Amino acid sequence: MAAVKMSKFRNAVSLLVLLAASPAAAQSDGSPVPAAPSAEAKASAPLGIGRTALPEEIAAWDKDISPDGLGLPEGSGDVASGEALFTDYCASCHGDFAEGLDNWPALAGGEGTLDHDDPEKTIGSYWPYLSTVWDYVHRSMPFGNAQSLTADETYAITAYILYSNYLVEDDFTLSHTNFGEVELPNAGGFVEDDRAETEYPIFAGEPCMENCKDAVEITKHASVLDVTPEDGSDAPEGAEGM
Ligand code: HEC
Repeated sequence: MAAVKMSKFRNAVSLLVLLAASPAAAQSDGSPVPAAPSAEAKASAPLGIGRTALPEEIAAWDKDISPDGLGLPEGSGDVASGEALFTDYCASCHGDFAEGLDNWPALAGGEGTLDHDDPEKTIGSYWPYLSTVWDYVHRSMPFGNAQSLTADETYAITAYILYSNYLVEDDFTLSHTNFGEVELPNAGGFVEDDRAETEYPIFAGEPCMENCKDAVEITKHASVLDVTPEDGSDAPEGAEGM
């Protein structure tokens, strides 16, 4: 876990370094931009541009929540307070019961529709992890007033969204301590992307360019398939007089 946290931290640092360095990398004469040295090289040999990211700048980036709850702040909120908050801040777009208004997204409902032509993908029917709900709401909602919710308010609203999806009872309180106990119904509907092991080796080999088949057998001729015009004109059959 410490390792995961470290790499996120490093990414945030190198991102800031790159942002700071980008004006120098833009070449006005159109010549190719030289490859950026590694973050380590820059840190040990500064070019006089950029600066070390401040702890609060790193904290502003490093706020994502992992499926196992890593990154969650301490706090809690219950369904009842979540309902009140949801009514004030969210219901105008997402409906009183998170069912969605007009074309605004529904956050509840849609169970069993994933294999339909027009599946209704909500937190209850589709999302794999509750951490995404907490993270998304805390980071980007309410629409137009993002990042205005406290941690406790976000726990309460998340609890209410669970309740709207019939996943918890009305006396439920969500907190950083019981967060990991909530499993969303579609958690098993996602699989690890294992194509790097299972598919790439098959496609990454040298392509065969000659004598790839032992024997070539002609099974049909165009004339037999009746796609060759017999009278010498290009008009397909039945197209006369069109
Ligand atoms: C002014 C309308 C509006 C308000 C108010 C609003 N939202 Fe949203 N919400 C949106 C829109 C629009 C999207 C889709 C954004 C997108 O796809 O980029 C969205 C998306 C979401 C999603 C992701 C839905 C999905 O399946 O992708 C969640 C969760 C969410 N909002 C929760 C909330 C919560 C909680 C509140 C209240 C704190 C809130 N929203 C307030 C408009 C609103």
